[in-house]
Amino acid sequence: MSSNIPANRKNLDPLPPNVFTLAQTPQLEALFTIIRNKDTSRGDFLFYSDRIIRLLVEEGLNHLPVVSRTVETPTGTTYDGVGFKGKICGVSILRAGEAMEVALREVCRSVRIGKILIQRDEDTALPKLFYSKFPKDIAQRYVLLLDPMLATGGSAIKAVEVLKDHGVPEDRIIFINLIAAPVGLTNFMKAFPTSKIITGWIDDGLNEKAYIVPGLGDFGERRYCE
Ligand code: URA
Repeated sequence: MSSNIPANRKNLDPLPPNVFTLAQTPQLEALFTIIRNKDTSRGDFLFYSDRIIRLLVEEGLNHLPVVSRTVETPTGTTYDGVGFKGKICGVSILRAGEAMEVALREVCRSVRIGKILIQRDEDTALPKLFYSKFPKDIAQRYVLLLDPMLATGGSAIKAVEVLKDHGVPEDRIIFINLIAAPVGLTNFMKAFPTSKIITGWIDDGLNEKAYIVPGLGDFGERRYCE
């Protein structure tokens, strides 16, 4: 029987603590194969990337803490179950992260979603905050941070710094992405060891333009441009 650790992950085997991948099933690999294909139409890219995003958001929710909750059922008996411990919100890193908002709204009714825009500062070449808007009580919430591609980790690290400045404890942040480069995972986890990362697939690395390889190219271009 073959190992279920894909070859691409062997340079990160074992995974850093607090890094989780979706189950590396043949179905998931088939979905990734479609969205990686440069000849896939925009319509198919939307459909199949949305399917992976939905799986990722569901997996993100699996990492939220729960507390005991007992309910009465229509049969007159009680059921000792659980309920989520705290409130959540999403924060999308613009613009690609916005593509992940619909899936979050589909699984969490009336979820609050903040936004953050980070771009490279032309003078320093470092990631710089350009805009942010968060729910007022974000410091009391668990945050699902949304960005589809984790390359170097620069934007995500800046985003978590901004969230921490707004009072969100590092260990309440779950960063969700479709594809991660090993260097991005390592950089992020070094900066925030108690945050969590949920990723769909770990790729080989980055090319000279800092695109993930094999990757899928520019996620925003493929999703928003015909
Ligand atoms: N952003 C993308 O859209 N693609 C990459 O490969 C890296 C960052």
